[in-house]
Amino acid sequence: MASVDVRERLRQHFDALPPEKQAGGWNAMWEQNVTPWDRGEPSPALVDTLQYKLPQIEASSFQDTSSNKAHHQPTRRKKALVPGCGRGYDVLLLASYGYDAYGLDTSTLAIQGAQELARSPDRDIQYPPVTSSGTAAGPGTATFLEADFFSNDFLSQTHPPAPQNQNPSASTPEQPSQSSEEEPSKTFDLIYDYTFLCALPPSLRPAWSKRMSQLLSPAGGILICLEFPLKKPPSSGGPPHGLTRELYEQLLNRPGKGVEYTKPHQEGSEGGEEGGQGEGERGRGGGGYVIEDRTTEMPRDALVKVERWKAERTHEVGKGVDFVSVWKHVQ
Ligand SMILES: C[S@@+](CC[C@H](N)C(=O)[O-])C[C@H]1O[C@@H](n2cnc3c(N)ncnc32)[C@H](O)[C@@H]1O
Repeated sequence: MASVDVRERLRQHFDALPPEKQAGGWNAMWEQNVTPWDRGEPSPALVDTLQYKLPQIEASSFQDTSSNKAHHQPTRRKKALVPGCGRGYDVLLLASYGYDAYGLDTSTLAIQGAQELARSPDRDIQYPPVTSSGTAAGPGTATFLEADFFSNDFLSQTHPPAPQNQNPSASTPEQPSQSSEEEPSKTFDLIYDYTFLCALPPSLRPAWSKRMSQLLSPAGGILICLEFPLKKPPSSGGPPHGLTRELYEQLLNRPGKGVEYTKPHQEGSEGGEEGGQGEGERGRGGGGYVIEDRTTEMPRDALVKVERWKAERTHEVGKGVDFVSVWKHVQ
């Protein structure tokens, strides 16, 4: 566990930066070795999700849509994205499960560290190839990009244009190039968020959910969130900023829409489920909890929860508390 002092240094460093400068503020933390989030291994909860849960979820969505032709096609190599990947342990894990996996981080040092790990001679021992239902056989690639999750610049590397036909007389319609203002059509089959949402300043949360919705494939793409930290009072600041089940729901059900939060000593929405804000600190009046949005209609780009469960195995810091939630586009 990180010492309180290291956590306090992290909090103070980001307290002094305006939200728009925070993405650029992480490299200094990597430089000074203030990296209490770095667990040195992939997330055990992600291992269990890939091994046991995802095959079940995919099998049940296959049954639901068995008339859908896409499911009858041979398994192609799927693309996975890990925003804010740090040293990239989870990216290497996803590649070992057959995904072409991309890790993004704005920190030069984090990306250098990840690239070193990817070249390590022990990589095949630490990340042996695993064949799982629904993914192509054999390991996929692991690519690390120094890039901002909110910018479109990295998409030309994650989705390079298909090789041009050698015969100039055979005309293929040219793909329009994508400017950063356009909505991306380049999407991922799986996105994994662990300690990324909680690393962002709260004002960027609506942009996070909009971006997740844009980048997740509407054709069965899966967003996996390892919800953390669920027991930390939101009013105590961050990073990591305390999160709740209700916050994930509200953000992902209404991508891009702002969230209203309680003021100190004001009641938030009722959350009876474990890991929700009905438990623990909300009653202590600290503020920063979600006020329920009672709008009933779901926007077209909404992500809906497929399943949520308490992580049986997870990093030490989240034991007994972390939940995993899986989200898809509304069909
Ligand atoms: C708390 S660390 C978590 C790293 C990693 N997920 C892990 O568990 O080891 C958050 C990471 O997000 C990166 N980051 C912050 N804002 C980003 C952004 N807008 N785009 C990409 N990476 C970002 C930081 O550089 C930092 O390495």
